[in-house]
Amino acid sequence: MEVFVYQKYDEISQASAKVVADTINSKPNAVLGLATGSTPLGLYKELARMHKEEGLDFSHVRSFNLDEYVGLSPDHPQSYHYFMHENLFKHINIEPQNVHVPSGTTKNYQAFCEWYEQRIEECGGIDVQVLGIGSDGHIAFNEPGSSLGSRTRIKTLSKETIEDNSRFFDKKEDVPIYAITMGVGTVLEARKVILLANGANKAKAIADAIEGPVSCMCTASVLQLHPDSLLFLDTDAAGKLKMKDYYEWIQAKKPGAPAGS
Ligand code: GLP
Repeated sequence: MEVFVYQKYDEISQASAKVVADTINSKPNAVLGLATGSTPLGLYKELARMHKEEGLDFSHVRSFNLDEYVGLSPDHPQSYHYFMHENLFKHINIEPQNVHVPSGTTKNYQAFCEWYEQRIEECGGIDVQVLGIGSDGHIAFNEPGSSLGSRTRIKTLSKETIEDNSRFFDKKEDVPIYAITMGVGTVLEARKVILLANGANKAKAIADAIEGPVSCMCTASVLQLHPDSLLFLDTDAAGKLKMKDYYEWIQAKKPGAPAGS
């Protein structure tokens, strides 16, 4: 795990966009794992800027989103299909047939989940997975208690997540109770993972994820087992980290570190 602490949200967006852009530049048909939520909005804005101003080319890129609400059609303003279209896809030159977002309206969820996993494999696996984190430590919609080996499936959302996400809906009762989500095991197979977090309401989840035990009670903690995970945080989200000074010290000393360290 590599932890980067920044003063400003914009720095998180720029640093994470650089990782995604470097991946695409070194592998034009890279497979991206994408997340929704407010946290990656700056990253998506920066990728759109890089496409427009620097020619970052998405024409061969494939993408897989983490999750979708069950029951929301792709044109529902709170669906993750709609979110991705509005905040990223319509601003870049990704081909519609290369975009994958789990279906919230399929007639057969089990078959769809199996197909989604198979499709990721057919594309060669995810090169870089973007993640946010829920205030209960979830990644994608893998709520506390999710198996750390879980695959794409239906999850029942926790009351805390319904409460958190109700800010996007007219009323709490409108928040779907079920979601289709990649599993913790699916996320763990990505070759690189970048997790973004800002704001004090994420500080406990971040401390549990980075410095707590690996546990299904905070599914983000599984990143401790990943060989290439980068965490981009602002000072508020890093506020409860016991080893924050050490993470900053590591980054400050990097230029003089022996090669390959
Ligand atoms: C939802 C998504 C997660 C996201 C989380 C945090 O629950 N399924 O992928 O990380 O929200 O969202 P936000 O970035 O808005 O805090």
